This record gives sequence, C-alpha cells and structure tokens, in this order.
Amino acid sequence: MPRILKTSLLLATLIVLGTLGCKSREGPADGNVILLLPESKPAPDNAPERMTKLTIDGKDEPIKAGPDREFSVKIDASAGKTVSIVYSFWPQTYSNTIRTKTVKLEAGKPVKVDFHKADADNPDRIREGAAEGNVILLLPESRPAPEHAPERVPKLTINGKDEPIKAGPDRELGVKIDAGAGTTVSIVFSFWPYTYSNTIRTKKVKLEADKPIKVDFHKTDADVPDDIRPIYYPTPHTVVVEMCKMGKVGEGDVVYDFGCGDGRLVIAAVKKFNAKKGVGVDIDPGLIKLCKENAEKDGVSDKVEFRNEDALKIKDLSDATVVLLYVGEDFGKALEPVLRKTLKPGARVVSHRFPLGDWAPDEEKKINCKNNDGNDEDYVLKMWTIKK
Ligand SMILES: C[S@@+](CC[C@H](N)C(=O)[O-])C[C@H]1O[C@@H](n2cnc3c(N)ncnc32)[C@H](O)[C@@H]1O
Repeated sequence: MPRILKTSLLLATLIVLGTLGCKSREGPADGNVILLLPESKPAPDNAPERMTKLTIDGKDEPIKAGPDREFSVKIDASAGKTVSIVYSFWPQTYSNTIRTKTVKLEAGKPVKVDFHKADADNPDRIREGAAEGNVILLLPESRPAPEHAPERVPKLTINGKDEPIKAGPDRELGVKIDAGAGTTVSIVFSFWPYTYSNTIRTKKVKLEADKPIKVDFHKTDADVPDDIRPIYYPTPHTVVVEMCKMGKVGEGDVVYDFGCGDGRLVIAAVKKFNAKKGVGVDIDPGLIKLCKENAEKDGVSDKVEFRNEDALKIKDLSDATVVLLYVGEDFGKALEPVLRKTLKPGARVVSHRFPLGDWAPDEEKKINCKNNDGNDEDYVLKMWTIKK
C-alpha cells in the first residue's frame, strides 16, 4: 500500500475513534457534581411531551435530549450534604427510564455520578406503552388546574418517588417497576376529580411474575381510605346567617363545622344565634390559627374550640346537635355514613351547595345574595334532620 494512503487511513481511523470516545460537555465547568448521562433520544414530532428531564432535590435543572455526555452542575450545598438526582431519559423514543441517584457532596473535588447504570438500592422506573409495563394503572380523570391555581395538578408516586404525569382524561398507564415478583409497592395517585377538591388515593400492590397487574384507581380500597382535601373557600356572610337559621341554631346547641376555614360558621353560631358551644375542625393548621384569632377578636374564645384534625378520621359525632358544612361532593359522600350513624335524633345538618351522598335532604332552599366579590349570586342550601 502506498505510504500516503497508509497515513491517510491511519488519520481517518484516529478521527473516527476520537469522535466515538469523545463526550460532549455541557454546564458550568466548575460544578461540584459531574453527571455522566447516557444518550436521550429527541421527542418525536407526534409526542413532544417525551422530554428529557433532570431534577436535583425535586427542582428542575434545564436539560435537552442529546448524546452520551458529561454534564457539570454546581449545587449550592455544602460538602457532606446528600442530594437526590433524578434523570428521566429516553433510551428509545418509545421508552422512558427514570433513574434516581442519591449523592453525597464532597469537599474540594467534584463528585462523578454515573447514570449509565441503576444503583441496586434505587431501582429504575421504566415507562412504556400501556400494554408493556408490569403494572397497568387505570387512572380516573384529573381535571385541569384552573388558571389562578396552577398548583392543582395530579401527582403519581411509586414507593415515594415521583412518576411524571399530566392532568387528563380517564386512562391506562403502563409502568415497568424494576423489582421482583412478590415485592409490594405503594402507589399513590393524587388527583382532582373536581377542580376544587383533591383526592389522594393509595394502593398497596404486590408485583406478579410473568403477567402485568392491573391497579384500578377508580375505587378506594377499604383498608386504605382516601384523603380528601377540598380547597379553602369561605361561605359569604349572608349565607352563613341563612345556614344557621335553616339549622334552627339556638341556645343549648353544640354546632360543628367539619372543614371550618376561618371559623366563621361556628363563630356566628355562638355570637349571633347564642349556641352553647361551637367546634371547628380543619386540616390546615394556618386556618386553625386564624380561627382562634377571629374568635378572640369576636370575644367568643370561651365558647368555641378549634381543632387541627382530618375530619374524615372522626368516627363519632354524637356530641353535635347541629353540623354546618361546605365541603364538596366527595367529602360529603365520605362523611354521610358517620353523620347518619352517630348523630342523635333531632340533630340537624345543613350543607352549603353540596349533597351528602345519596341521602335525600328534608329541605332545600335557594337564596340570592352578594358573593365574596360583592356580586349577586344564587346559593342552594340543603337540610337534613336525624329521625327517631
Ligand atoms: C370550602 S372550605 C369551607 C370553609 C368554611 N366551612 C366556610 O364555609 O367558610 C373547605 C375547608 O375544608 C378544609 N379541609 C379540607 N380537607 C379537610 C379534611 N380532610 N379535614 C378537615 N378539613 C378539611 C379546608 O382546609 C377548607 O378550609
């Protein structure tokens, strides 16, 4: 072979080898963490949501699809601190791998974190088409977040780790959990069946060999009750008064509000209608603090009690002679059996707008008054009396 040809061949081979071995480098060169990231395929035109994602302690770190590369990041935390880094990438355009690494920062030198392999104690989650996972989740619709509350989005976690998901219709989602048959995993779907109420549903699932297991999130398991969290939205003051009148609140009454917000219903019951006692229960500690401040301002602290509790965990309401509610359909449905079973004959329940499961009200009333923004609005109140 002529010498010139030999030299050109050698040069070409060196260039090819050099290109193959070379990794592109991105991010600040002075990072305290260097991530070795496997290739992520670009999103196909018909599925732009198949994005490569990197999060560090739950915060997004901008990253694009691209070749095998080194990515240097400066994490603003001191040596010795442990951070959780999640790389969600697409080794194939149809299959998403979510790989998690727990990393302890070091002093003086950057830590190299290799995402080419999963750690034994942090198995990958792999998402493919619905037909392909070893777990097929049947997920009920989650309503889109309203513009003024973009945080009301659905969330899915598997053994405490986030699994990216969007609001959307009733659907099937295939997930491949990289764990052996017989392993029990905890899957939590937090969704918005109504734009104003969040349901957090938990399922314990034992993986099976060979065949995918279907997990239906349309229904609650009896052994793990739902957490139901209607948002805070106060009843307008005119409606508060109408609710107390409808519930015939008077001397001697013990008035409860499950999901009491700023306490206005029970405060009005004792202050304007002379009830013996008012009890407000709310899941939000900040609102309970506000209730106590409001009771103090209104001079009724000695007649009211505010408790920071999950109202759906209270199983005996026999103390109440009147219950006032503004809580949403799903919460009302969950509370209905406890109300019917434990309230004493003669007790009254008044609900602003929402039904209590299939329990037919004894009375219904429509009123028109100013809403919280000062505009006229129609309101519906429902009332039930516990029979002897
Ligand atoms: C629509 S607001 C009603 C507030 C108040 N009752 C009123 O009418 O002005 C619903 C309230 O329920 C509370 N809440 C949500 N889930 C709850 C739960 N599981 N247990 C107790 N309170 C809850 C919220 O924090 C919120 O304050």
